[in-house]
Amino acid sequence: MSENDHDTPDITPASAPYDAQDAAPEIQGTGDPGVMAPGPLRADVVVVGAGITGVVTAQLLADGGADVVVLDASTARSTTTARSTGKLSVLQGAHLARIARHGDDAVGAYLAAGFAGLGWLRRTLEGLDVPVENRDDLTVAATPEQQPEVGTVLATCVRHGLAAHWVDEPPYPVRTFGAVRLPGQGQVDPLRMLSALRSRLRARGVRVHDGVRVRQVRRLRSGVALRTNRGTVLAGRVVLATGVPPGRLGGLFLRLEAGRSLLTTWDVPEPDALPPGFAETMSITADAPVRSLRMAGDLLMVGGEGYPVGREPDPGWRLATLERWTRGTLPVGTARHAWAAQDYTTDTGLPFIGPVFPGDERVLVATGYGKWGLTTGAAAGLALAGRILDEPEEWGPALEPWARPPEPSVSTAATFAAQTKGWACATTRPTGQRAGARRVSRVCPHLGAVVHWNDQEESWDCPVHGSRFAADGTRIEGPATEDLAPARGPRHR
Ligand SMILES: Cc1cc2nc3c(=O)[nH]c(=O)nc-3n(C[C@H](O)[C@H](O)[C@H](O)COP(=O)(O)OP(=O)(O)OC[C@H]3O[C@@H](n4cnc5c(N)ncnc54)[C@H](O)[C@@H]3O)c2cc1C
Ligand code: FES
Repeated sequence: MSENDHDTPDITPASAPYDAQDAAPEIQGTGDPGVMAPGPLRADVVVVGAGITGVVTAQLLADGGADVVVLDASTARSTTTARSTGKLSVLQGAHLARIARHGDDAVGAYLAAGFAGLGWLRRTLEGLDVPVENRDDLTVAATPEQQPEVGTVLATCVRHGLAAHWVDEPPYPVRTFGAVRLPGQGQVDPLRMLSALRSRLRARGVRVHDGVRVRQVRRLRSGVALRTNRGTVLAGRVVLATGVPPGRLGGLFLRLEAGRSLLTTWDVPEPDALPPGFAETMSITADAPVRSLRMAGDLLMVGGEGYPVGREPDPGWRLATLERWTRGTLPVGTARHAWAAQDYTTDTGLPFIGPVFPGDERVLVATGYGKWGLTTGAAAGLALAGRILDEPEEWGPALEPWARPPEPSVSTAATFAAQTKGWACATTRPTGQRAGARRVSRVCPHLGAVVHWNDQEESWDCPVHGSRFAADGTRIEGPATEDLAPARGPRHR
């Protein structure tokens, strides 16, 4: 498959329901469908989630000789990994400027993780015949106001020995106020990458169970019990590679903000109309309005217009804005694809990679990549597998969830406001229905906020911690572990 074959689902309707396999029989103690073993499935380590984080963790654990099982609710195509832009970079827009406040040790650990993840992916994907195209990455100052932040990115790179430099006139199709350029990064077809990594896991003999949704993680005296839609799974340790952890585990959902972003692809009828050298770069603006660009084969990929889940009154307007900007600014022809994806950002800006509960090695998590989780997700796999196999990464402790105290942020205040408003509304506007779908309660099963209808993606989106549900109430993603309940009260929209 080439980049052009990146057959990403259209932005409507919402992703396939996770629960298609709810009626499936209980999973038994063997990965071999021909052999039935009595009792619940057991393993030394259970990895929940087979996006980039889960597959790398499981691969490394299996390579290290651990008995590992992977559970995933869904297919490769519906992961954030497969729906991403596919940039493998340690430059990451203005992210380095945003985490610079944590000091050089933390930034150094973050960069070391990024390089480790990028290196592992390059080596592994080469062995799997998945092309990683070399690209220079640009963080662009789209306005004079963005220049200082881009300057901080450059200063941070230079302090940490990266070969980044300033360019006054980058190969970018719109006027800029300069950019930081970092050579030696890469881009990949993310669905092809993930499918190859999943296949490799299976070929390695790792038991991978699809259609298994974890609903509860319970710590036992020794080990962990996972309640799933297909029975109980027992593990010595569990790695939650699910984005936000399911349910209320460790309260981490309170420290994460769920954001959606849009991606589009376009024909470029006259490639010469793009600036010379553009195709050898990938780029992103330092701040809003974010525009993320790269070529994907002959198509131009354009991303941006991110928003907090459930808090955008008109998601359709976001897509229209991105499309209008693209048509008005870039030499494009027909629009080919449009889709959205979701990722999580932590209160500190640094990812959470390590124990959910301080000092308890039974339940590990990796999340909060702030939309840069391809390299950082691979790094998380290295850190978590190293931890379990007793070969810890030096940079690991700096990225643990509780390495620094929780930080109140603007998003904390917005979350609180959405929660309060939601609970107030829950008493008066409890139900909703969309064409052809069953009537559902609009009360989010996670913590009781009121979900909002997203007419662009035909989904119910929770403004508080980012759970999403299909029109018929089936859970799609987020910390909620149950579907929206069937409606009982009067109909309201
Ligand atoms: C629009 C967009 C563009 C992006 N572009 C880039 C980019 O160019 N470069 C980059 O580095 N990063 C990018 N990112 C970020 C990156 O894609 C993510 O950070 C990364 O893919 C997250 O990987 P993951 O393994 O944690 O999650 P996912 O890939 O989402 O995988 C999680 C898995 O867990 C499963 N799961 C969830 N809950 C349960 C449950 N309860 N039980 C069982 N299974 C469950 C899901 O089915 C899924 O398969 C982008 C993000 C977005 C939104
Ligand atoms: S996701 Fe937490 S209340 Fe909805």
